[in-house]
This record gives sequence, structure tokens and C-alpha cells, in this order.
Amino acid sequence: MKKLFIKTHGCQMNFYDSEKMVDLLKPHGYQLNNNVEDSDIIVLNTCHIREKAVEKTYSELGRIRDKIALRKEKTGKDSIVAVAGCVAQAQGKEIMRRSPWVDIVVGPQSFQNLPELIAKVDPIKKNKHVDINFPVIPKFDQLNHEVHDRGPSAFLTIQEGCDKFCTFCVVPYTRGAEYSRPVKSIIDEAKKLIDAGVKEITLLGQNVNAWNANGPNKKKWGLGRLIAELAKIKDLEFIRYTTSHPLDMDLDLIEAHRDIEKLMPYLHLPLQSGSDNILKLMNRKHTTKQYLKVIEKVRHYKPDIAISGDFIIGFPGESSRDHESTINVINEVQYSQAYSFKYSIRPGTPAGIYYNHVDEKVKSSRLQEVQEILREQQMRFNKNSIGSTLKVLVLKHGKKNGQYLGRSPFNQSIYFNSEELNLIGSTVDIDVTEAFQNSLTGKMKINKCT
Ligand code: 5AD
Ligand code: SF4
Repeated sequence: MKKLFIKTHGCQMNFYDSEKMVDLLKPHGYQLNNNVEDSDIIVLNTCHIREKAVEKTYSELGRIRDKIALRKEKTGKDSIVAVAGCVAQAQGKEIMRRSPWVDIVVGPQSFQNLPELIAKVDPIKKNKHVDINFPVIPKFDQLNHEVHDRGPSAFLTIQEGCDKFCTFCVVPYTRGAEYSRPVKSIIDEAKKLIDAGVKEITLLGQNVNAWNANGPNKKKWGLGRLIAELAKIKDLEFIRYTTSHPLDMDLDLIEAHRDIEKLMPYLHLPLQSGSDNILKLMNRKHTTKQYLKVIEKVRHYKPDIAISGDFIIGFPGESSRDHESTINVINEVQYSQAYSFKYSIRPGTPAGIYYNHVDEKVKSSRLQEVQEILREQQMRFNKNSIGSTLKVLVLKHGKKNGQYLGRSPFNQSIYFNSEELNLIGSTVDIDVTEAFQNSLTGKMKINKCT
């Protein structure tokens, strides 16, 4: 067995891709290993959304170089270094120029070629391989969907790329145009996951609710219809999806939240800014009013749904009035949890060239204010769970003896104790007793559901 080390940054789609790389390389004799120092191949799966992504990638590659040099010195063995993900897509050959110890560069649409590329690496010739093509045959048709070691919860990518072109975002350039995976290919993979013991599937896409494809009767299906079909898989118990765009929340999907019990009452719906001026500059293509209307409608159909979001604070041109508008919308929506980021330039994106950037100190204090409000809302949401009984999927052991960690339908982490040994993958009823900022604790009801 050869040893494979993968370090993954960024969104859930990257984590899904990394799982797929493991599945792809397994039949070629590679086994997952958790340190660089004694691995035969090191894959760095990069993210371009994080701030200073490119510089951070090169620093990390520098640390990898030191570790593989040490290995060579101690054992005489060469290691193969591959860079994957969105920084690989954006930088291409430049990675080899700046980090000549890298052997392979593969983009998110071409990593299915990794086994071939690895086979071509010759440590003596020190030949380099770059594959950042967008393939003609969809990547999904070339991946290995035989599933290994997934645990109770798994990701399943159903859509990739984005046609929205928000001016701050690098995704349309790194992941390409919107692509929806065909129904059959999704259902087949979901069934394989379930056969491997998975109980919860999170459907992934940069714009997951823009997913659409022909159903078996050639009728156009949207995400709501797809979820209804997936819900028919017997042992699949929990369905989630992320991330959605407000304009793609169609009635079918909203109704699915009311009608399909397996679809969890949780919606991650980024707003980015609560000011229409800024939304326009961001090219979000929707107004605050439209966003609030969607939330109202979703809550009409599923009153207890937990709403999460993303916010960019200090976008170029954001005035204190714009900032106030963001706070007003946050107060109106009442999020169960949300992510907020200081705006920073992503190379190649249109917003980078706007000249009226907000002062760093102002950005920081606005971010602090927003995060304080979001923290309060999350705490309130969690406290409201006290006294309720939640159906919880048990994900893993907690750090303490006899402790388990599970996930509530509202996407909260929940800790509880049990003497029972094999609860991972089970669904249990938990009476919530305490609430914290990022988690709940509770007591397990004696009778397990499954
Ligand atoms: N600056 C700050 N945050 C950003 N995001 C995307 N691009 C930027 C940027 N240039 C945030 C958005 C998006 C999340 C994944 O990352 O809020 O929804
Ligand atoms: Fe980026 Fe906007 Fe597309 Fe989301 S909708 S991936 S923020 S361009």
C-alpha cells in the first residue's frame, strides 16, 4: 500500500472532491495517511475564496517542501506533490514556476485524471503535469462512485459552477459555468452512499438550487422534485442542501420543505448585504425586499425553519447608512446562525478595481457589530431549543468518555452521554437541557428510534 495525504481547504465541495480523490486512488493502491512526512503522495486541495488564498498556498507548499526533503534525506524516497482545487485552476503553470517541487496541478474539473497523471510522474526526469481543462465528458461520469468509509453523513455534489457573476466572487472563474448533474447519476451515487451506511446526504452546489435537469419522462426537474425522488430511498433519513441563491428558491423547493419529512428544516440563504445600493454593486440581481419575500414565503410553508446566511461587510462604497440597512435586515430575519466576512479583493474579480474601498478599521468595527448581533441571535435560537425533544443523527464520539456528538434537524451540534456502545449512525431522540453559543447538550430518551 502506498500512502496518500490530502489537506483540504474551503467549502464542502472541496471536501467532497477530496473524498472522491481518495476513492479514485484506492484501486491504485493508495491508502489515506495523516501526515506529510511519510506519505508517497501529497495532495493540497486549495480554496480561492479565503483571503490571500494564493499567498497562503505558496507558504503551505514551502512547508511541504521542507517535509518531503526531510523524508528524502531519511529514507531516500521521493514524494509526489499535487496541487488541486480553485487556486490550482487559477494559477496553473505558475505554481510550478514558484514551487518547482510540485509535480502535478489539477483543477476542480479535471482531478478525475489524477491516477494517470501520477503514473506519468518520473522523479528522475522531474517532469511536470498540469491539467486545468474543463473536460468534454462530464467529470462525474469518470469518477469512481464505489464508496469507502463515509460515516453517517456524506456530501453529494449535484451542481457545479455559477453563471451569476457576483462582482466580489471568484467562483465563476475557477469552477466555470453552471452545470447540473443528470438525475440518474445523482440517484445512483445516493444509493451507493446509503448502501455504505450513510444516513444523511447534503446535496452540494455553488448554486445548488439552480440545479435542473430532465427527469425520466423528459420533464424538467428542479431541486424540489429531485429531493422528492431522493426521499424515496428507504434508508436515507435526512436530506440537506447548500448553498442557495435567493432568486432560485422556486415554489417546488419551498413546498418540499413542507411536504418532505426527510428534508431538514434548515436553509442557508446568503444575503451578502442589506443595502440595495450595495446589492446592485455586487451584481446580486435581487433586492433586499425580494430576499425578505423569499424568507417570508419559506416561513409560511415551514414555520419553524432555521435560516442561516452569509454577509460581506465593507464592500467598496458601503456607507454607514448601507451598513445600518444590513443590520436592520439581520434584525428582521433573525438568523439561527450566519457567517460574516470582511470584504477583501479576490484577484481577477470586478469589485477589485472599484476605487472607493472602505477603510480597514471601519470594516473591522462594522464586522464586529454584525457578528455581535448574529451571535446574540444564534444564542437565542439555541436557547429556544431547551425543553424540546430533537431527532438527532449521531455522528461520532465526543471528546469525553461516553459522550456522543450528533446533529439536530436545525443543524445544531448536540452533545449527550450514553453507556450504549454503538450509537454512531443511529437516530435518537434527545431532550435538550442546555444551550451554548455553538452547541446544545441533552439527554437521550431511552428508546432509540432506529
Ligand atoms: N470578500 C469577502 N467575502 C467573500 N465571500 C466571497 N467572496 C468574498 C470576498 N471577496 C464570501 C461570501 C460567500 C462566502 C462563501 O464567502 O459571503 O457567500
Ligand atoms: Fe459566487 Fe455569486 Fe455565484 Fe454565489 S452566486 S458562487 S457568490 S458568483
